[in-house]
Amino acid sequence: MFKEIFQGYKKIAIHSTLGRIATSIMVVVFISFMVIMVEFAIPSKDIDLIIKLGILYLLVNILRAIVTFWEDFSEVKLEKNVEADYREKIFVKLQNMKQFEIEQLKAGDILENMLNDTKEVARYYTWGIDRSYAAGLLRLIGSLAVLLYLNSFIIMVTMLIYAIGFFVAFGFNHKSLKFTEQKRKINSQILNFSNEQVSGFETIKSLQVQAQRMKKLKELLKEYEKSVHQLEKNIRIYTCLYDYIISFVLVVTILLSGIGAIKGVVSYGVLVILARYISSPKTYAKWVLEGFQIRNVCRISYQKILEILEKPEENMETGETLQKVEKIEFQKIQFAYYENQNVLNGISLNVSQNEKVALIGRTGSGKTSLVNLICRFYDINDGQILINGQDYKKYSIHSLREKIGYIMQKVVIFDGTILENINYSNKDVSKQEIIEVCKKLNLHDKIMQFENGYETIINNETDRFSNGEKQMINFARVMIENPEIIILDEATASLSYKSEMLVRNAIDEITKNKISFIIAHRLSTIKNCDKILLMQNGKIIEEGNHEDLMKKQGEYYKLVNA
Ligand SMILES: Nc1ncnc2c1ncn2[C@@H]1O[C@H](COP(=O)(O)OP(=O)(O)O)[C@@H](O)[C@H]1O
Ligand SMILES: [Mg+2]
Repeated sequence: MFKEIFQGYKKIAIHSTLGRIATSIMVVVFISFMVIMVEFAIPSKDIDLIIKLGILYLLVNILRAIVTFWEDFSEVKLEKNVEADYREKIFVKLQNMKQFEIEQLKAGDILENMLNDTKEVARYYTWGIDRSYAAGLLRLIGSLAVLLYLNSFIIMVTMLIYAIGFFVAFGFNHKSLKFTEQKRKINSQILNFSNEQVSGFETIKSLQVQAQRMKKLKELLKEYEKSVHQLEKNIRIYTCLYDYIISFVLVVTILLSGIGAIKGVVSYGVLVILARYISSPKTYAKWVLEGFQIRNVCRISYQKILEILEKPEENMETGETLQKVEKIEFQKIQFAYYENQNVLNGISLNVSQNEKVALIGRTGSGKTSLVNLICRFYDINDGQILINGQDYKKYSIHSLREKIGYIMQKVVIFDGTILENINYSNKDVSKQEIIEVCKKLNLHDKIMQFENGYETIINNETDRFSNGEKQMINFARVMIENPEIIILDEATASLSYKSEMLVRNAIDEITKNKISFIIAHRLSTIKNCDKILLMQNGKIIEEGNHEDLMKKQGEYYKLVNA
């Protein structure tokens, strides 16, 4: 796992680890100075050596300050790079992921991935590897090894106590993994819940379900508290137990060296140094232990990031570039979102240039699914879609979608100025052209009422436009794009009568000289289409223009006269 995560950061990782190793060695060197003093300088009354040790101590300290700076700098850089890179990778993945996969994701999980998981993964190197091993383990072993020189028997006993402490902590660490996972899971549930609260604000208010929502939130928070509690309890138990076991180190050292001093086998100097330094390995050992915990968190977070990064992608660029769209043919299309649950059942249809096709039928009859297939949001199970006589899979998805302008019922306004919103794909068009489009859509006067005109900042929640006007922004966007195929999926469904009249003119404007697919509930919107398809349970049950279908006196006739 560790190798995989930090593969691309070898150089900077080596810098930070070498820095840690260097400072750790210096710490051990300081202890060695003390050992040299009591073992050599004092017994031989060598004042020169003591002065030399003092000067060396000062020099090493300067070096330590420099190395610490270098190492801190490398660590921060490494951490921030890894974090930013993984955020970018997830973002790119979200952009390229297949439609069906995207639909399975929840906003809260993505936030957790983007903000939390990337941070935990990035922390693993500097905290889990550098601090635990390059610093913790090295200093622990180094300082015990130097102290071993003073009195091997006492230090061997201490090492045994450390080993027991580690063994106990290891067992508890295993349990922590489960609790960490649980905590993370509930955390993303809370994020999802909060996201719903914002996006479903109006529905929640109108359904008057605040009390239920509150109850659910309290339950989630309680569960979160429980998992945090369990995790913390587990960590506390093992740290306390570990602390308790390690406290024997000091007691045993003082006891043994005290007895040794009385018996004359341990000098007072050695006694003082052992008492002073025997506890510092305790801190280093704790770093090693914390490394286990950090590793747990990283492992879970990395797993979650991989789950996203391993999702299948659309291959946007492979294939021929689709030039002009002359005709589209559907040949016996079968399509299902889930196995054996066909949503489209043998749809066949021919559409040529400048033709307007209307799709009508009950909710769930498959209209949206059909137009989504044109965009290649999903793969067809059987049959073919041909563009200009060629299987449309031969063309690159990028060049296909470039040819399509899709207007849905739901309007998305991005954070930015009106101008940026209309020319969102940043085409090379002048402001004057955008103004012309807005005039055609009756938007211009409204926009000019704002103090900053086209530079006014808007967003999805903006109240400056009515729903109909927001939809007009959408129309303007598509008109600027000037695609060859236009898809309108219930573009007028949520609009008031007045707005709908506005949009209806816009529909005529936007579908002029294009291949268009119009899904609409109000029959008046589609009366003048060249082809009207009546859909039922994933099949076309009637097809023709308004006059043909009226003459036939079938289902369409019934709908019109309903
Ligand atoms: N993204 C989706 N994932 C799974 N099933 C879907 C999805 N979209 C639509 N369906 C199912 O496909 C059927 C047709 O839906 P749809 O094409 O949206 O119909 P319409 O646009 O005519 O209302 C419905 O039964 C619906 O539940
Ligand atoms: Mg639909």
